[in-house]
Amino acid sequence: MPTLTINGDTHQVDVPEDMPLLWVLRDVLGMTGTKYGCGIAQCGACTVHLDGNAVRSCVLPVGGVEGKRIETIEAMENSELGRSVQSAWLEHEVVQCGYCQSGQIMSAVALLSKTPQPDDKEIDLGMSGNLCRCCTYTRIRGAIKSVAK
Ligand code: FES
Repeated sequence: MPTLTINGDTHQVDVPEDMPLLWVLRDVLGMTGTKYGCGIAQCGACTVHLDGNAVRSCVLPVGGVEGKRIETIEAMENSELGRSVQSAWLEHEVVQCGYCQSGQIMSAVALLSKTPQPDDKEIDLGMSGNLCRCCTYTRIRGAIKSVAK
């Protein structure tokens, strides 16, 4: 029975060790802010933080993340950087359909926590794993730059 640390809370979950973290978050724990897009690590909709790094939860067996610090979009309001990024998303009216945006925000926060003032190339690299079918990329870049000021 894996024991997980998610957003500072400990959860014991009665699931197979090879179940992807995404399903545990959404279906077992009811944390639906993290989205299912492709299920094969191609779109970034399921991005969460593992010890501060952006990872794809759809391909992460839950047995492999015990003892690590997992953070989801639900926790972003608890940090100054998370709140700044979310505010920038609103100010720049980034969201269109919105489906991919929790993953986008998780990648942006991970990027900015490691590279507080990223240039265009670093933003492109840091966000390259997150697809948006509405093509909000220009507004995403603007929002990230506004936090980086
Ligand atoms: Fe995980 Fe697409 S749902 S990368």
